[in-house]
Amino acid sequence: MYSDQVMEHFRNPRNVGEIENADGVGKVGNPVCGDIMELSIKVKDGKIEDAKFRTFGCGAAIATSSMVTELVKGKTVEEALEISNKAVVEALGGLPPVKMHCSVLAEQALKSAIEDFRKREAGEESSDDEAADEEK
Ligand code: FES
Repeated sequence: MYSDQVMEHFRNPRNVGEIENADGVGKVGNPVCGDIMELSIKVKDGKIEDAKFRTFGCGAAIATSSMVTELVKGKTVEEALEISNKAVVEALGGLPPVKMHCSVLAEQALKSAIEDFRKREAGEESSDDEAADEEK
C-alpha cells in the first residue's frame, strides 16, 4: 500500500534525533491516533540549516517527517512555512488516503517549530514542552 519512496524513508529515516541547542522546537500530537512528533530546527541567517525529528508514530508519520526534514534544509523560514503536507506526500510518491492525516503531523510539527523559533527570536523564551501534555 506504500510507495517505494515511503518505504525507503520508513526503513532509513533521515535526520532522526534532536538538535542540541535548537533554535526552535515543535511538538504536536495527532488527535486521530494519539501519535506524537517532535521536530527541532537550527536557523542561521534566516535559513534552516538543520532539522531533526523524533516521532512515536506509524510508518507514514516516520516517512513524512523524514521527508520534511530533507525538504526544509537550506530553505528560508518563510519558504519552509509554505511546505504543505501535500507537497511532502507528493515528494514521497503519494500516501494511501487513510494515511493522509499522518502527513499533517509532520507539517504541523514544522510550523510549530518555526513558531517557536520566531517567539525565541522576539525574545520570549518558550518552555521546552508546552504542548507535551495535550495527548494525555
Ligand atoms: S497512524 Fe498516527 S501518525 Fe499515522
